[in-house]
Amino acid sequence: MSNRKDEHVALALQQHGSAGRNEFDLVRFVHHALPDSDSDRSDLRTDVAGATWNWPFYLNGMTGGSTRTGEINRQLATAARETGIAIAAGSLSAYLKDASTAESFRVLRTENPHGFVMANVNANADLDGVRRAVDLLEANALQIHLNVAQETVMPEGDRAFGHWAQMLERTVQALDVPVIVKEVGFGLSPQTLQRLHGLGVQWADVSGRGGTDFARIENARRPGTDYDYLIGWGQSAPACLAEASLLPAAQRPHLLASGGVRHPLDVLRALALGARAVGVSGHFLHTLSTQGLDALIAEIHRWQAQLRQLLALVGCTNLADLAHTDLLLGGELREYCELRGVD
Ligand code: FNR
Repeated sequence: MSNRKDEHVALALQQHGSAGRNEFDLVRFVHHALPDSDSDRSDLRTDVAGATWNWPFYLNGMTGGSTRTGEINRQLATAARETGIAIAAGSLSAYLKDASTAESFRVLRTENPHGFVMANVNANADLDGVRRAVDLLEANALQIHLNVAQETVMPEGDRAFGHWAQMLERTVQALDVPVIVKEVGFGLSPQTLQRLHGLGVQWADVSGRGGTDFARIENARRPGTDYDYLIGWGQSAPACLAEASLLPAAQRPHLLASGGVRHPLDVLRALALGARAVGVSGHFLHTLSTQGLDALIAEIHRWQAQLRQLLALVGCTNLADLAHTDLLLGGELREYCELRGVD
């Protein structure tokens, strides 16, 4: 298991950027040259999972479970603390199977005692396991990941998905911290969002394709390259958000978005398409690995400063104003929306 965690990090880094352009590039703001905004008045606060975050982007769930990934978590947690952004752990399933890995996850809290920290488990975790994961991190919220495409390609994958819905429903009912259900880079359809809502789930991260691709990562871990054809499976975050907007807000969870976010403009695009906050994994992992912790902290500070400016550029003062911006969806994204009946 710890070896698998190291491989995921190594392959994510090796494959980083291989998708190149993604569907965020097909989301354009119409430019208006005389706005009433002022970047000094930009208010980027957002309400997520029972708390008010000062910044609408966060370090999304990645890793833990080995010595090397524990050190990565320590540095990610330091960056979260220094910049005041929220952070999620990678799956704590390694800890639930082997308690000796606790410290590699626990650093997210010890390095970041006052931050917003999310635990992370898979949909197989029982209530006892879920509670142990939340307790270890004194977590403010729990992410539960849905990763059917990854399990399909993963050599040691667990492909029994039929009991997940029931497990989710039980966990959401019994747990006393908010639950965020997330994909891992293949997207959440409106049908899935509606189903989650029916199970009592109030928060969902659509985590779409266009960035880290676990079909590609798991395929590279196999002796053959049997599942090449699944690379690129799923829907992008912009497609998921555009489609989700067709559902009445009362019939779906509140939305977070991730998958392929590369710079502050992608964050703004996802926010304008309806996300309350935006998760970043591969890009920040790559910055940390290639340039080190100080560079990651500087980059997050740069994103924060630029987001204030970009909000004013599109004529907004707060995130609620973004609902009134003029967005154009082009190319394949537009085609997808037309095929799916999105205006
Ligand atoms: C991930 N991701 C992930 N998600 C999750 O819920 N539990 C996990 O354990 C992991 N593990 C993991 C390891 C590594 C190395 C990466 C890069 C990512 C998925 C992550 O949270 C996110 O959904 C996707 O990576 C898409 O976002 P990016 O990477 O395109 O920004």
